[in-house]
Amino acid sequence: MPDDSTAPKRILSGAQPTGQLHLGNYLGAVRNWVSEQRQYDSYFCVVDLHALTVPQEAAELRAATRRTAALYLACGIDPERSTVFVQSHVPAHTELTWLFNCLTPINWLERMIQFKEKAIKLGEEVGIGLFDYPVLQAADILLYEPHLVPVGEDQRQHLELTRDIARRFNDRYGESLRVPEVLIRKEGARVMSLQDGNSKMSKSDPSDLSRLNLLDAPDKLRDKIKRAKSDAVMGLQFDPARPECTNLLTIYQLLSGESPEAVEARFADAGFGRFKPILADLVIEYLRPIRERYDAIAGESGYLEGILREGALRASKVAGLTLERIRARMGLLPPF
Ligand code: TYM
Repeated sequence: MPDDSTAPKRILSGAQPTGQLHLGNYLGAVRNWVSEQRQYDSYFCVVDLHALTVPQEAAELRAATRRTAALYLACGIDPERSTVFVQSHVPAHTELTWLFNCLTPINWLERMIQFKEKAIKLGEEVGIGLFDYPVLQAADILLYEPHLVPVGEDQRQHLELTRDIARRFNDRYGESLRVPEVLIRKEGARVMSLQDGNSKMSKSDPSDLSRLNLLDAPDKLRDKIKRAKSDAVMGLQFDPARPECTNLLTIYQLLSGESPEAVEARFADAGFGRFKPILADLVIEYLRPIRERYDAIAGESGYLEGILREGALRASKVAGLTLERIRARMGLLPPF
């Protein structure tokens, strides 16, 4: 474990390349990574191996992996400051998963809420990979020995498991893995579906109307906001009893940068009919530069590949050193 207290602290996080990044991913994670990269030694990966835990079409997975990496950059991740890479380009992730599999009790994984939810949806298609998903996530994280892992609220349980695996390793093989802290910003940590204020905005929701994708065209964004579920109460407030209203106001507040009090005061007498077009304008203008940068990155042949090649090299160096240490602790003979 590096103990150089003068070195900047490190963070690591990632998102799955399934479908498109949406406003929940942005407000709960990517937007925070962009501001945190100034302060921390930062690693951001596109977790394509995690995407494979549910059935994927090969060409679409390739496209989504590129799209997700390009969106990281378009959102403001600076490859000069941060290491951006594709998980499967660093084989240490899969090797460490095996080593951790041999350390992780099955009943720790049986408790995982996301597994239970996805397993119900998938029925017979549930593979071992889906069950083992949190162990791969622990490997992603512990290989880089981050101090903090910035994520949205839905990842809390996976992060607890990562910490448990690190502690178990340290108990069994001697203190050598850093136990990372989870970093969940209160604001934006749980953006809800536009169609149901009680479930989170999700890439896997069958209804595209439930989410605002970062690359949706302006007309589509406007239409989705117009059709977002609302209620019949006059005047808008942050009120747990009005989850849809609270969610739309939260999106407004986070994108406008105004305080919750100012937002409530502004819309205290408004109905959804007046508020929704204002919110749509704000979302469209906020996402416009992201979409423009995305188009520029996607259109520049070889640019993204160069970033990902360099990112994989940098990540492999760090991951390789940790893996070597873990292998040795576990008693594997070094290669001759
Ligand atoms: P994923 O791809 O589902 O989501 C990426 C990030 O977005 C956050 N997020 C949300 N935040 C607020 N509101 C929402 N509705 C919302 N939906 C998603 C997630 O919390 C996450 O931070 N297992 C992870 C990916 C992963 C990972 C890792 C993360 C794999 N290895 C290592 C951190 C460190 C996942 O599926 O995220």
